[in-house]
Amino acid sequence: MVARKPPSRKGSFADVPKDLMDQINRLEELFSVPTQKLKEITTHFQSELTRGLSVEGGTIPMNPTWCMAFPDGYETGTFLALDMGGTNLRVCEITLPEAKGEFEIIQSKYRMPEELKTGTAEELWDYVADCLQQFIEYHHEEEKLDQLPLGFTFSYPATQDYIDHGVLQRWTKGFDIEGVEGKDVVPPFQAALVERGLPIKLTALVNDTTGTLIASAYTDTEMRIGCIFGTGCNAAYMENVGSIPKLSHMNLDPDMPMAINCEWGAFDNEHKVLPRTPYDIIIDKESPRPGQQSFEKMIAGLYLGEIFRLVLVDLHENPDCKIFEGQDISKLKKPYSLDAGFLAQIEEDPFENLSETLDLFQNKLSIAATKPELELIRRLAELIGTRAARLSSCGVAAICKKKGWKTCHVGADGSVFHQYPHFKARGAEALREILDWTEKKDPIEILPSEDGSGVGAALIAALTLKRVQQGNY
Ligand code: GLC
Repeated sequence: MVARKPPSRKGSFADVPKDLMDQINRLEELFSVPTQKLKEITTHFQSELTRGLSVEGGTIPMNPTWCMAFPDGYETGTFLALDMGGTNLRVCEITLPEAKGEFEIIQSKYRMPEELKTGTAEELWDYVADCLQQFIEYHHEEEKLDQLPLGFTFSYPATQDYIDHGVLQRWTKGFDIEGVEGKDVVPPFQAALVERGLPIKLTALVNDTTGTLIASAYTDTEMRIGCIFGTGCNAAYMENVGSIPKLSHMNLDPDMPMAINCEWGAFDNEHKVLPRTPYDIIIDKESPRPGQQSFEKMIAGLYLGEIFRLVLVDLHENPDCKIFEGQDISKLKKPYSLDAGFLAQIEEDPFENLSETLDLFQNKLSIAATKPELELIRRLAELIGTRAARLSSCGVAAICKKKGWKTCHVGADGSVFHQYPHFKARGAEALREILDWTEKKDPIEILPSEDGSGVGAALIAALTLKRVQQGNY
């Protein structure tokens, strides 16, 4: 159960000098998103979802994924799943039971070296293939293996004409590897596997949101949307082919379902409706892909700490306000030095004396913050975290409105959803405001999901093989 009213520091400050109080008020003004604005964003979002499905296309990619069914519980077999997330690389081997039941999973995690994100394509695919090789050697030492089907969770926007290929539209989440955008990522990946003699055949290229949708739907038939609130932010849902004009040239059955990876991080790249602050504008300008992922840059874990850092540096340099006066803020000046986990820790600190926040600033940034400064810091973290959760709910509400879903479950995964304090409660509160609910029990609930990039990818690979066996490819 999600607490109905998330706690807030709003309006409860004592002994904060006027210059800082003025700044707190200014930040509240900048970062708050009132109900009316949420509704306005949702309305625009809904029309952008439709535009993305049109022949002309829109700002949000709305990528058909060729995942065309929910699991029925009778998917079986052994599959590999590879998850190339932003921070870790995970390899799993999943055995789906004969009838709906417990999965058997073995898995290994490998750290994704930071320099790989901006290295060369060859280094990337070599590293990924090496991890798979290590996994096979470790778990299947000396065994003679048949070809294992693989579900590859590749969580970046990709154009797919069929499920086992994908042309990278553009890198997101800080990745910037030359020579990959605009190309099918599968051939170089598969070539690296062949080079190592690995008995693995890529069966499905999957987005993490689609994996989340399918894995959650396996255990909950009310599931309609899969969301990720982590390093990036995105959602997938099941559309019917008849509502996807950009597929009409293929003469498919209009009632056939098709999972759509919205890539909603790109929402409002044209800056029509989101309440961007000067700090959001700096984040965008200094990112490897300016002008892209506007929505994501206000919400996702990769950016929350950076927004916070930019505000504090700006306040320090503002002659109208005295914050960290006379202190060396060189550590704070380092871009991307604070992550969402740092903000989460501040928000977890009990209100009374904010002693943990004091320690955090001391230990991580060598800054001795005064009590009023700690009050400002806490309120700022709260404002940034709350804005992220509230904006996220606009996307969920927009999909539900588009589809006419009055009640359903939404499966969510990602570090921000699971670990950021009050994210769930704040998101639920915003949904209530947007959709004018007064009921005691929320008709649409965002729930923690099953393992999308493991189980979800395996299920999608299984569904794909089933389709191929039925001759429907
Ligand atoms: C970024 C990616 C998207 C992914 C999301 C969450 O938005 O573009 O594909 O689903 O991050 O990981």
